[in-house]
Amino acid sequence: MTDAGTIDIAFPTTTHATRVEASRGAASRIGPAMVEAGLSVEGRLVLAVGDSGAAEVFERVESSLRDRGADVAWHRVEATEANKVQATADRIIEWAIEQGADRGTPIVAVGGGIVCDLAGHVAGTLLRGLPLVLVPTTLLAMVDAAYGGKTAVNVPLSGGRLGRNLVGGFLPATLVAADVSTLRTLPERDLRAGLAECVKHGWVDGEAHLARLESDADAITDGGASQTAALEGLVRRSIEVKAAIVTRDPFEQGERRHLNLGHTFAHAIEARPGNRWRHGEAVAIGLVAAAAASSEAGLAEAGVVERTRSLLERLGLPVALDEAVPVEALRALMDLDKKRKGRSLRLVLPVRPGAIEVVEGPPEAVIAAGWSAVAARP
Ligand SMILES: NC(=O)c1ccc[n+]([C@@H]2O[C@H](COP(=O)([O-])OP(=O)(O)OC[C@H]3O[C@@H](n4cnc5c(N)ncnc54)[C@H](O)[C@@H]3O)[C@@H](O)[C@H]2O)c1
Repeated sequence: MTDAGTIDIAFPTTTHATRVEASRGAASRIGPAMVEAGLSVEGRLVLAVGDSGAAEVFERVESSLRDRGADVAWHRVEATEANKVQATADRIIEWAIEQGADRGTPIVAVGGGIVCDLAGHVAGTLLRGLPLVLVPTTLLAMVDAAYGGKTAVNVPLSGGRLGRNLVGGFLPATLVAADVSTLRTLPERDLRAGLAECVKHGWVDGEAHLARLESDADAITDGGASQTAALEGLVRRSIEVKAAIVTRDPFEQGERRHLNLGHTFAHAIEARPGNRWRHGEAVAIGLVAAAAASSEAGLAEAGVVERTRSLLERLGLPVALDEAVPVEALRALMDLDKKRKGRSLRLVLPVRPGAIEVVEGPPEAVIAAGWSAVAARP
């Protein structure tokens, strides 16, 4: 303590390390993997929060946990953005307390990004924090949502708008089991949506990563014998990119903002009442808008817009809106984005593969150029 009575309390900047098991069959080995990651399972209650869409994976997770002597209780969640709200988290919390959760009770989420975000939010707040294990079952969650500790719920706002991810915190999972065999039942549209975040990782990482994605594009999407192996490689490369960045910047003070490439546009698309786009689809459109905005700002090197659009199209992702929406309406929705700083907007823009620029308070012409590039084509 100083004479003036000042005391500094230093906290470590991160609370947990995350072990990632990225291999086929990892969901069926979750029990032993939890033990290896230091989570006791034998004779313990394990709370499993399951995405109704991923029910096929439940049995694998449950039998692996029971084989290790765990007592497993399930709570099913219907994965919709409207359901990713505090009221749903409260129902999970009530259920967990009634099941007899204590501070050592692990919460295992089995599902897509919605269920991972919801379960993470509960694990971060219930009893001031329970151990979190994630078994992502969508490509998007497997390459993005399961890492880096961001947890969130949406907030319903006036006029039917949904304030996306406005409440939440940082709770890295102790363990993530990224098992591409869980994608077997995932509808093709959802699989493709996850590829948008892979494209984002390619731009953030650099030329070699982006070129590999371009050369693997057919194998990744053709449904043939090589698809699973191609997806497995893709998932590992994406995890490496995100893991490296969130390790260096866990609380998004700098470099981690690069992972929001295209997301200011995407979140505005998703905030529209009646939005029908998947998160990954909105990100795909947002990546094209960000590339065009970057070009207007004089940042993007030649060919960035065309290369972004062409790869997304090859992967079967949307590159424009499908209905006419006034640019002013989309612009107004951007102000809801939680990444706003003060009164200015923040755009994350591609310059070239591996070079990303964060622009605070961009000129309106730059934002308008982004929206014009993705306006619905007649
Ligand atoms: N926390 C983060 O860092 C982070 C990062 C990116 C995205 N997110 C969040 O992730 C969410 C989007 O996640 P998503 O794209 O995984 O979508 P999602 O969670 O909405 O899942 C998409 C659909 O797939 C179904 N599903 C899940 N697994 C399945 C399977 N194996 N087989 C068949 N159906 C299955 C779900 O029931 C749902 O209908 C958004 O809410 C977004 O905000 C969070």
